[in-house]
Amino acid sequence: MRISASTVILSLMAAASITAAPTPVHIEKRGVILDKLKDAFAKALTSLECGACVSALVVAKDVSYLNRNWVLDAANSLCSTFKIMDQDVCKGLVYSHGPVLIESVMRAKLLSGDGKMICFQILGACPAPAITSGTLTFPKPKPTNITVKAASGNRVDVLHLSDWHVDDQYVVGSNAACNKPLCCRKYADSPLVPGRAASSWGDYNCDAPVKLGQDLLKFVPTIANPSFSIMTGDIPPHNVWAETREIVMAEEKAAYSVMAAGITNMYPAVGNHEAAPANLLPTPNTGGDYKWLYSHLADEWARWLPADAVNSVRNYGAYTASPAPGFRIISLNTNFCYTMNFYLYGALKDYDPFGELKWFISQLQAAEDAGERVWVIGHVSPSQTDCIQNWSALYYQVVQRYSPHVIAEQFFGHSHYDEFAISYGSGAKNAQNAILTSWIAPSVTPYTDLNPGFRVYKVDIGNWNVYDSNTYVADLSKAATWDSTGATPDWHLEYSAREAYGAHVPIAADQPLSPAWWHNVTNAFESNDAAFQKYWTYRGKSANRMAACTTNTSCPKEMICDMRAGKSTDTCSQPAFGLQKREDGTEYEDGFVAQDVSGLRSVFGSAKKPWNRKLCGLPSI
Ligand SMILES: *[C@@H]1O[C@H](CO)[C@@H](O)[C@H](O)[C@H]1NC(C)=O
Ligand SMILES: *[C@@H]1O[C@H](CO)[C@@H](O)[C@H](O)[C@H]1NC(C)=O
Ligand SMILES: *[C@@H]1O[C@H](CO)[C@@H](O)[C@H](O)[C@H]1NC(C)=O
Ligand SMILES: *[C@@H]1O[C@H](CO)[C@@H](O)[C@H](O)[C@H]1NC(C)=O
Ligand SMILES: *[C@@H]1O[C@H](CO)[C@@H](O)[C@H](O)[C@H]1NC(C)=O
Repeated sequence: MRISASTVILSLMAAASITAAPTPVHIEKRGVILDKLKDAFAKALTSLECGACVSALVVAKDVSYLNRNWVLDAANSLCSTFKIMDQDVCKGLVYSHGPVLIESVMRAKLLSGDGKMICFQILGACPAPAITSGTLTFPKPKPTNITVKAASGNRVDVLHLSDWHVDDQYVVGSNAACNKPLCCRKYADSPLVPGRAASSWGDYNCDAPVKLGQDLLKFVPTIANPSFSIMTGDIPPHNVWAETREIVMAEEKAAYSVMAAGITNMYPAVGNHEAAPANLLPTPNTGGDYKWLYSHLADEWARWLPADAVNSVRNYGAYTASPAPGFRIISLNTNFCYTMNFYLYGALKDYDPFGELKWFISQLQAAEDAGERVWVIGHVSPSQTDCIQNWSALYYQVVQRYSPHVIAEQFFGHSHYDEFAISYGSGAKNAQNAILTSWIAPSVTPYTDLNPGFRVYKVDIGNWNVYDSNTYVADLSKAATWDSTGATPDWHLEYSAREAYGAHVPIAADQPLSPAWWHNVTNAFESNDAAFQKYWTYRGKSANRMAACTTNTSCPKEMICDMRAGKSTDTCSQPAFGLQKREDGTEYEDGFVAQDVSGLRSVFGSAKKPWNRKLCGLPSI
């Protein structure tokens, strides 16, 4: 998941106002430059304008040529002065993530488009630049008379876990209401008496205690008999300001072994948190060491994957494996489109890092030739604003070429919310033209303001389409009661998608939950607010802690627009700076926090930019 905390440095670095003079900087002394940087950052923190953002990058780059540490020092000092976050968090974030951003900014051609592109993708502070990634060529043209494989009538269970984020440093009774991006831990500056004591089963402000994950895995066999499982990434907790390779590797080792105790047959994908520091996954064109992560993951995943897949993981985390004859899973590393992967901004012309999409196409062509059905799994969904637009546009071309006859379904995570998105053939976005569903699964972690949860799909082993999607949650608001009575979490079926939405869009028992059906469900959301409100509740995993999304705002319209966006270019939510204000003053879609955990809300919160609304046919504010 993307957390607002990791945008702190960005804001500090990117928010310098235009008034900061870039040129005479080299003749000034460190102290003067630092003050100027700080002053400029501080002035611009509230504006987040495109020009200010780009010029801030230019200034930061300029100063970096003198001494990169000065930029970091200025950001750190400002972050502390502003009391945006605890000092240790500021310092940790600035000095671990900052150098990578600086390196990329120094490589980027800021005034030839890269600057605007960075400001757009990370902060939503510039208008969307044109997509220049071009048109892909495929080994063979799309067959004109495609037929989709028939259902067999045999259905199996498939378990979908995502965003595990179990915290083995979770301390029962510690402060759950802290001023850091992750609470429920003992910190040097923790108060003696916690504002709210962490229960033993978790808290809405925290990642999951180890026993919550274990309890979840114990519950699964009571309701399902998974033929296999998919795990769409993000194992370590959200202490993104204090991670080292060693810590993260140990956390992953522990978590995978907990999963292995309950799951014999699992297909994982690489999340942005698998790296240390989080999000920062280099490519051959960006500099930086990338080998350690994939060799570590390959070793961990070897318990589940065949040898050729393990070898493939060693390259850059992607692999393919065939759990059953005629069926193939392709696990992609979608962090190479992740907007918070600062490495990418140093090599923006590299539209296909590692040649992953090229490899993907070759696998899909082989599958088409062999008449196989394919599932794509990954962490960041290419449909969401968190995926860089150029990459997302290329990905969408691949989907249009190989769906619906080859790619049967695709599964992602990352947002922690329970969401979905629809991809279409070229032409109108309607039911007949809907070709593929992106299933975006809810997180195991309750972080933040969500109930812990997971999915079980009912899947036909002939066409490998989904016939039902059952989401299970535990009601974490009862955690204190579980502790006082010695009870365990009340895992229960939150909803069956077939039942919940089939009430609005009837579906025959022998038909899958197809993209056409999901499109009709979005139509129902448009015309029936009760149906949409059902979705909104499930999106927040029935914790009911998200801000409302009511028809007297543009929120439902934007949400429905996003459901019909298979690529990030088509979304109506704007790439946002951590927290976005809705017109009524509360945050929602990018709103990873419903309460002001980090204290950022009061500092930031620019209104939506008008160009984005225009793009989506919404009235300007
Ligand atoms: C860069 O600045 C840091 C302090 O911010 C200082 O310790 C270091 O010596 C400087 N490096 C150079 C080459 O001046
Ligand atoms: C695509 O990449 C080009 C080249 O870096 C850049 O100029 C353009 O702004 C990018 N477009 C988007 C939408 O990211
Ligand atoms: C589809 O086209 C291929 C060749 O283009 C042909 O061999 C095949 O018989 C066709 N299938 C159907 C169902 O028309
Ligand atoms: C979607 O709605 C259209 C128009 O009402 C209808 O013709 C079509 O059968 C529906 N498809 C599904 C799968 O619900
Ligand atoms: C929208 O309606 C809700 C009640 O349904 C109300 O609480 C809220 O204040 C209204 N918001 C606006 C912007 O009118």
